[in-house]
Amino acid sequence: MKANIFTYGLLILASSFSMNAYAGIQEGRIKAENCAGCHGLNGISLSPEIPNLAGQKQLYLMSQLKAFHAQTRKNPTMNAMAEGLSHEDMTDLATYYSSLERQPVKAIKAASSSGTATSKEFPETTWITMKKSGAVERFPNQMIWKGGSNMLYDAVTPDGKLILATSPTDNTVYVFDAKTGRKLAVVTVGDAPKGVKVSPDGKVAYIANQKSANISVLDIKTLKITATIPVKTGPHNCRFTKDGSLAYVTLQGGAGLGVIDTKAQKMIRVIPISGIQGPHNLDLSADTKIAYVRDIVKHVAVVNLRTGKTEKVMNVGHGHAGLDVTPNGRYVVTGAIADTYVSIIDTQSFKVHHIEVGNGPHGVRASNDGRWIYVAVSKDNVIAVINTLTMKVEKKIAVGKFPFWIAVQGNP
Ligand code: HEC
Repeated sequence: MKANIFTYGLLILASSFSMNAYAGIQEGRIKAENCAGCHGLNGISLSPEIPNLAGQKQLYLMSQLKAFHAQTRKNPTMNAMAEGLSHEDMTDLATYYSSLERQPVKAIKAASSSGTATSKEFPETTWITMKKSGAVERFPNQMIWKGGSNMLYDAVTPDGKLILATSPTDNTVYVFDAKTGRKLAVVTVGDAPKGVKVSPDGKVAYIANQKSANISVLDIKTLKITATIPVKTGPHNCRFTKDGSLAYVTLQGGAGLGVIDTKAQKMIRVIPISGIQGPHNLDLSADTKIAYVRDIVKHVAVVNLRTGKTEKVMNVGHGHAGLDVTPNGRYVVTGAIADTYVSIIDTQSFKVHHIEVGNGPHGVRASNDGRWIYVAVSKDNVIAVINTLTMKVEKKIAVGKFPFWIAVQGNP
């Protein structure tokens, strides 16, 4: 037994994460519920006598399951567990476990109160992109859908039916059925697509093509590109006004905030922003009169959209990140990919509050009632859930590799 555990350790160390074969992940995850009591749903075992399965080679897992099934490898528990498994079950399970992050037990324990997602703190359905897994994960009833080689930004249509996610390395946008994860289309857009947003009437999506300096307009009914709107250098993300007549685009090349007339499908002006470098992500106040713009260095600018003046610049954590105005308008939240905390800005007092969440917080989004803030902690592979009543991290939920962006139904 001792020798066995030692051998497992070496095998786990020697194995490498395999990025292919995602076909059975979704099925495997469901089937793995029966194994979770011992091996953990995330493949990290709950006791020292039980091997970790996360990130193990798929072929090895497959051969061990077959050996347990045929009883050529003897272990009463596993022989019983494998007895009823079909060839397909084994393939799905091996695919699922091999797809998981091979985290040491210590790291999992260090993640303060790791837990599972429930509808209490996820009152709306929420979809998280995992950049390096090239997948989207649905919360609270977790399901993983494979997309392009990188899944970066995502958005949900207002009716909650479709998920759009950009793959900047493939120059495509993936369209999934938001409930089942069925892949409905893979649409080619411009060069290096980043942010994606859906108009309030649900008719079109804007995709910011950072390298080709334009916006692709995707018709949601036909899932075809119907227009391309030239902007200025480095469009990164955008945000429609409540009535959908305008869309603001962050121009990371430095020009500021582009203003698009959505009817004319034309950029009609650029609002320069002083005191920040590289406008990156943005959100609008509830009345859509103010834009909060996050740069790639460590600032958030408050831009008055009527006067075009930058009213304030606040210091936040280092590096680029997402930004969200909580739907009740109370807070502006932003991450910091080169830091360990999120900044929560009180929109009344402009006081900035830091909350430690872990390494590399990027995407942030709040629930519709503003009670919960979700943070994609990219380098720890967890989603941190902040309770805004206590301003404490209530949970950390393990996900795939490099969680990046969060889309919450009802919070544009
Ligand atoms: C009651 C606890 C328990 C349950 C439930 C359980 N296992 Fe195991 N599993 C073990 C133990 C203990 C071992 C180590 C067996 C040994 O020493 O040979 C093991 C070993 C394995 C191995 C071999 C790992 C290696 O590194 O060689 C695989 C693969 C495996 N289990 C998969 C599964 C799958 C898939 C399920 C669910 C269908 C499952 N197990 C359910 C306890 C369990």
